[in-house]
Amino acid sequence: MPAQTLDQLVSLCKRRGFIFPGSEIYGGLANTWDYGPLGAELKNRVKREWWKTFIHKRTDMFGFDSAIFMNPKVWEASGHVKSFNDPLVDCKECKERFRGDKLLEEKLGVEAVVVLKLEQIEPMLKAEKIKCPACGKCNWTEAKQFNMMFKTPQGITNDSSNDIYLRPETAQGIFVNFKSVLDTVRPRLPFGIGQIGKAFRNEITPGNFTFRTREFEQMEIEYFTKPDDAPKAFDDWKNDVWNWFTGLGINKKNLRVREHDKEELAFYSAKTIDIEYSFPWGWGELFGLANRKDYDLSQHEIFSGKEMKYTDPNDPSKKFIPYVIEPSFGCDRTVLTFLIEAYCEEELENGEVRIVMKLDPRLAPVDIAILPLSKKENLIAKALEIHRMILDKTDLVTDFDVTGSIGKRYRRQDEIGTPKAITVDFGTLGEDGKQGEKDTVTIRDRDTLKQDRIEACKLIERLKTNQ
Ligand code: GAP
Repeated sequence: MPAQTLDQLVSLCKRRGFIFPGSEIYGGLANTWDYGPLGAELKNRVKREWWKTFIHKRTDMFGFDSAIFMNPKVWEASGHVKSFNDPLVDCKECKERFRGDKLLEEKLGVEAVVVLKLEQIEPMLKAEKIKCPACGKCNWTEAKQFNMMFKTPQGITNDSSNDIYLRPETAQGIFVNFKSVLDTVRPRLPFGIGQIGKAFRNEITPGNFTFRTREFEQMEIEYFTKPDDAPKAFDDWKNDVWNWFTGLGINKKNLRVREHDKEELAFYSAKTIDIEYSFPWGWGELFGLANRKDYDLSQHEIFSGKEMKYTDPNDPSKKFIPYVIEPSFGCDRTVLTFLIEAYCEEELENGEVRIVMKLDPRLAPVDIAILPLSKKENLIAKALEIHRMILDKTDLVTDFDVTGSIGKRYRRQDEIGTPKAITVDFGTLGEDGKQGEKDTVTIRDRDTLKQDRIEACKLIERLKTNQ
């Protein structure tokens, strides 16, 4: 069963080294999070699986890595300068600031709130008697638009004409390079470009652990098609992304597709859906998919004066701006979802409760633990020998652990989601008096708790076939 409260997960993440509060020794910095040794490994594995599935295993996709700093005109062309806004309300009593729509969403649900106009937010807060989360009063200012882009000076002069933005999405880095990819790689439609990278948004109300933060990573794809082929490409991407999430362990009961209705739909979008996950606090957006038509490339053609058209290779007289289907993942949100889904408390036969992270083995930060049964010198020496052999002959990530009782060490490996643990015991050394156990080890399975004894010389083959 996935984590029922966020606190269970936050506490495990800190205790075991997945995710720590940012800048903690200085009292922290609100809503910033640092990935510890296990979290960094997990996040890298999520990115690796994404890149493998959506870039390497396809013949129509190319990888990219664009700069975070971009010419400010990019954000004028994309519409972010004018309209990348959230509705901000102030509490007149305590002066705290909130996102008006989010305050309403908790009571009325997202569908009822996305259709509201800016001027309807304050009257609705009043009508629904929504109290300030900080002081408990209900006395709001009118909602005003708040632009979420971070601005920063570039270079050594303090002249505001040198101000640039931290990118609020990775997508624009792909659009502005569309022509360069076209001219160098010479792909035919349909084809796509994907990239993974940091994005920054000055969110009014970040929160729910890493769900909404001001600095986060995205994994975005821009998939270019002929206009008529866009609806089919949209459906194909919806299925591919759904299968990626469920194939890596997200139960489909915890996922749903929500289509934006015409009030919520951005003016340039022909169709948008969110894939939502049932988070401990309710349904929330995990992933977004949009048919953005030719909006972005057309805007960049107008603002840059550079042609963004594709020439039909079968008929060079036909030139057009392709449509784009945009599958957009939040990397941190995806990691959080895998963590919530994997969290499991299980009662064992002896009545003890174990916490186990049932992460897909492709995502688990440690592939295999090597555990000498005790601290006896010759046991440790044998276990180190086996550890070395695994490091030399495989690419597996290992954890060699000698601290504490074997029971405690198994619990720790369960909590970090290690799929297999190898125990080196007195049988391995031929010292337990049992026939045929010399040079054997046991392999314990995280989920079934079954322990198999196998010959150490067959270990590598077994690990490579992942049995
Ligand atoms: N280029 C389209 C785009 O950026 P979006 O729906 O604003 O679309 C895409 O963002 C994904 O990025 C979301 O589905 C979510 O997973 C993630 N995301 C957006 N804002 C975020 C934030 N403040 N913190 C963490 N993840 C965020």
